[in-house]
Amino acid sequence: MNKGTSILPPSDQEINELCKIINTNLGFKYDHQKKYLIVSRLDKHLAQLGFTTYRQYLEYLQTEPEEHSILFSLLTTNVTSFFREAIHFQYLKKVLLPHYRKVNTGPKKIRAWSAGCSSGEEPYSLAITLRESLGADWDIMILATDISAQKLTMGSKGGPYTREQVAMIPPHLLSKYFSPEKHKEETLYRATPLLRQLVAFQLVNLLDQQALPQHIRLNLIFCRNVFIYMAEEAKNQILSQFYSRLYPNGYLFLGLSESLNSSDSRWNSIGKSIYQKK
Ligand SMILES: C[S@@+](CC[C@H](N)C(=O)[O-])C[C@H]1O[C@@H](n2cnc3c(N)ncnc32)[C@H](O)[C@@H]1O
Repeated sequence: MNKGTSILPPSDQEINELCKIINTNLGFKYDHQKKYLIVSRLDKHLAQLGFTTYRQYLEYLQTEPEEHSILFSLLTTNVTSFFREAIHFQYLKKVLLPHYRKVNTGPKKIRAWSAGCSSGEEPYSLAITLRESLGADWDIMILATDISAQKLTMGSKGGPYTREQVAMIPPHLLSKYFSPEKHKEETLYRATPLLRQLVAFQLVNLLDQQALPQHIRLNLIFCRNVFIYMAEEAKNQILSQFYSRLYPNGYLFLGLSESLNSSDSRWNSIGKSIYQKK
């Protein structure tokens, strides 16, 4: 890092151009009022790249498509954990999956989507819950998508995760689904092939309706703590996609602090931030 480099504050024109990229891709409604927030998230990164102006960075964004993913990561939060908002996994285990086993008359097959999966903790928690509740003879596949290429790389490699990160995984499941690895003085935990084969990671911007093949249909969608900064319009666009991709009676899980508009008559509210497609 060029410690001494200081970045010239962006001009109004530069902020407008940046906001346009951010709003189109992340569904935010940023304008020049968010200038200080944007600068506080990006200045250090620009310095690391050796730039001194936002114009240089905007030009770089045009020539380096992969930089977009880095920009989006800097502006969103990737905070996650195994069995986060544990009540959802309990509900799946105790209520939804036993019910699904009973009413399912077709093949023993279930498809789920962790939309905004960050570094894999959520889809792996889902995979463990489905495998443990349904048994080894079920065909389970979890699609795990995110806009952050960096987080997806970690997820697709199965981690490795620190001792603190795996602390919420019950010991018998940790030893069944993760292998310890020595990294210098530290022991880290990597998801085993048994667990990794249940999860397919893919770079997807949820605002891009064409990113996933049209035929993909799901029984469950987890989209938790993703909508935080999104404008209503972007949320509605994503929710419509979820609706059309769920099988009839399929389930949508949002973050515990998130909810659907009660006037949205397409969904039944069936639990804490859990909705069923009508
Ligand atoms: C706070 S994390 C939540 C992770 C996990 N769902 C959970 O609840 O623990 C939000 C994730 O959503 C992703 N995200 C935000 N906007 C997105 C978009 N438009 N398309 C895809 N992923 C997005 C971020 O990259 C981040 O990894």
